[in-house]
Amino acid sequence: MRAVPVSEHVTWVGAVDWNLRDFHGFDTPRGSTYNAYLVRGAEKVALIDTVKTAFVPELLSRISEVLDPASIDLIVVNHIEPDHNSGLRDVMAACPNARVVASGSGVRGIAEYHDGLVVDAVGPTDVIDLGGVTLGFLPAPMVHWPDSMFTYCAEDAVLMCNDAFGQHLASAERFADEVGVDLALDELKVYYANILLPLGTQIAKVMEKVAAAGWAPTTIAPSHGVIWRGGLVDRAISTYAEWGSGELRDKVVVAYSTMWGSTDVLARTIADTLIAQGLDVHLYDLAVTSYAQLMVELQDARGLLIGSPTLHHGMLFRVAGFLQYVGALVPAGRLAAAFGSYGWSSGATKQVTDRLTEIGFEVAQDPYTQKFRPTEAELAAASEWAVAFADKVKAAGV
Ligand code: FEO
Repeated sequence: MRAVPVSEHVTWVGAVDWNLRDFHGFDTPRGSTYNAYLVRGAEKVALIDTVKTAFVPELLSRISEVLDPASIDLIVVNHIEPDHNSGLRDVMAACPNARVVASGSGVRGIAEYHDGLVVDAVGPTDVIDLGGVTLGFLPAPMVHWPDSMFTYCAEDAVLMCNDAFGQHLASAERFADEVGVDLALDELKVYYANILLPLGTQIAKVMEKVAAAGWAPTTIAPSHGVIWRGGLVDRAISTYAEWGSGELRDKVVVAYSTMWGSTDVLARTIADTLIAQGLDVHLYDLAVTSYAQLMVELQDARGLLIGSPTLHHGMLFRVAGFLQYVGALVPAGRLAAAFGSYGWSSGATKQVTDRLTEIGFEVAQDPYTQKFRPTEAELAAASEWAVAFADKVKAAGV
C-alpha cells in the first residue's frame, strides 16, 4: 500500500494493523491503523505522529516513497499512548535532524516513557511555519489522555486530531467515503462507546476551542481508521455532538451469564416483559457477546439489568469482568438492578448489586433471586419485578 495524498501538502504515511483483535481488552475484529501524516512546506517537512514500535519499519518505508526520512525537520507527538508513541525513539533515529514537539503534558510523558528523552512543548500560541504551510496546536486534554493535542494545517484545512474521530478499522482505503459511510460511522460509534464515552464534555469543550481558534477543517484526519472529508466532516462532528450530549432513551440492556439455564430463562422472561412494557430491549449472553458490541447499545440506554447465577458464593467471572469493563465507561445517570439463580448457596445477586453501586450505577430496586429452576409462579414474579424496573426507567425519562 502506497503513501496516500490527503490534501495538497498532507500525505498519509501510517501503518495498517490488519491482525489487531484486542486493544487493551476492546475487541477489534476489523483491526486498526496507526495513522501518521507528512506535512510538506516549501522549506521544511513535518511528521505528525508516529506508530507502535513493531510498525516503525512500515512507517519508514511509506515515508521513503515520498522523501528521505532523514530530511524530516519536525516530529509532532499528538498523544503519548504507546500505540502512537512507543516507536518514537526508532523514528527519531531515522530522522536525526528532527525537532520533536508535544503538549506540555506530552513532554513530561515522553520523558517518563522514553527514559528521560527531552522534547519541546508547544501550545495554542505557537505556529510552526514550514514555508508557506503552517501548523497550529491545541491541547485536547482527556481526548483521550491528559497529554492529547490536535494539530491543524490551516492552508489545507486539515485537522489531525489523533484518537478523536478515530475508528478501529483496517482497510486498503484511506477515506470514509471509500470504505462506505455506514461502515465508517458504525466503527466510529464502536470506538466512541468503548474509548471516549465518559469524555463527551471534554470533547465538546475541545471542539468549541477548535471553532474559537478559527479552525474550519474540511478534512478530519484521525490517528485510527479512515479519514473524514467533504460533507462527512460535518456529519462526523454532528454525530459526536449527539453522542456527547449524553441523552438516554427508554432502552434497557439485559446482560447475563448462565450455568445450567435458569438465569437464561429468567433473562428471557424479563426481556419479554420489558418489551411488552414498550421499552427498547437488547439481550446479551456474556459468554458469546463481545463487550465492545454491548457497549454500543449501552451508549444511550437508561437501564442495565445484570443476571448471574451463584458460583462459589459469588457472581460468575464473566459477569465480574463485564462489570469492571462497564464501570469505567458508562454508569452516570443510568439505572441498574441484578437478577439470578442459585442451587444451594446464594450470593451472586447481592454481590452484583453491591458492585453496581460501587461503580456508580443507581440501583433501582432489590435484586430478583431465584432458587433452582423457576416455576411458572416464579417466572410471573420475575415479570412483576421487570415491570417495576420498566416503570422506573420510563419515569426517569420524563
Ligand atoms: Fe490511539 Fe489513546 O491512543
